[in-house]
Amino acid sequence: MPAKAASRPPVEEEKKAVALEDLPGVGPTTAEKLREAGYTDLMELAVASPGDVAEAAEIGTQIAQHIIGEARRQADVGSFEIGTTLLERRKTLGRISTNSKALDELLGGGIETQAITEFAGEFGSGKTQIGHQAAVDVQLPAAQGGLEGEVVYIDTESTFRPERIVDMAKAAGIEPELALSRIHIARAFNSNHQMLLVSKAQELARTKPIRLLVVDSLTAHFRAEYAGRAELAPRQQLLNKHLHELMRFAGTYNAAVVVSNQVSARPDILFGDPTRPIGGNIVAHAATYRVYLRKSKPPKRIARLIDSPNLPEGEAVFSVTSEGIRD
Ligand SMILES: Nc1ncnc2c1ncn2[C@@H]1O[C@H](COP(=O)(O)OP(=O)(O)OP(=O)(O)O)[C@@H](O)[C@H]1O
Ligand SMILES: [Mg+2]
Repeated sequence: MPAKAASRPPVEEEKKAVALEDLPGVGPTTAEKLREAGYTDLMELAVASPGDVAEAAEIGTQIAQHIIGEARRQADVGSFEIGTTLLERRKTLGRISTNSKALDELLGGGIETQAITEFAGEFGSGKTQIGHQAAVDVQLPAAQGGLEGEVVYIDTESTFRPERIVDMAKAAGIEPELALSRIHIARAFNSNHQMLLVSKAQELARTKPIRLLVVDSLTAHFRAEYAGRAELAPRQQLLNKHLHELMRFAGTYNAAVVVSNQVSARPDILFGDPTRPIGGNIVAHAATYRVYLRKSKPPKRIARLIDSPNLPEGEAVFSVTSEGIRD
């Protein structure tokens, strides 16, 4: 494959990268408080209520109103996009093959950029293997199912295995050393660190053609750190913020975001699937595509697409082999 950096469609949301600090009336302290409360960019501020912003930043309502007004001006809210513009943007969507035809078809042609694709399932269902496979395939040229891109891999469970990349790269015809050099791996030690790494990924994406961001696992740290019932609300709030930032990454860099999620038992269910993904509605709404994985007769796995905005629900069977994901 060509060694040159992959060409990337124009980054059209770059204008949103105006920092909160650039708004008149917002100093570093206020900006920090706003970010802590989840207002990380102009758009979020532009659509907020003065009362909420005043409380979050510990400022007067009038100042809050003024800041929101500035954010609205700069973020260009209220302008409508015509359908054709939207269609044009969707034409720049890229797709990354999972190496399984069936799974690719289920996803409408592969893992989509400008979107979050969630793989949820019990242990050993193939979530991490899919993350590894996508990290290899994104490097391939388009004709082979890739985007000639590089990868940021946020590993929260220490399950990233370079050896697996070597196996999969060899099978895909990529020099293993080269494949590894295009995957930027960071271990996240806790949920805070995990969120911070998304900003780091943003910095990296300014100089490297990052077209895939993997978060494996999206929810494990959040689940472990906010275990009690009383902590559910703050956990969901942070998770929401994290997902927002991931979505923004996907949009800004025309990148695919792949997240893994575990499932928990549902004691209330007597019929049907007795498990459900962690993170409840927050993750359900933020993920553009949700794929539910379950184990079948080894090495087979069954993937089911749920709640897709534009694809029919369906199932695909794939296998996890020594060479990676296969049909
Ligand atoms: N080298 C290999 N050759 C063949 N199969 C493999 C290989 N490595 C892993 N597998 C298969 O992949 C499975 C592990 O899948 P994976 O790690 O993706 O699960 P997961 O969904 O991420 O689980 P968890 O929730 O524990 O993180 C193993 O049980 C095995 O069946
Ligand atoms: Mg895993």
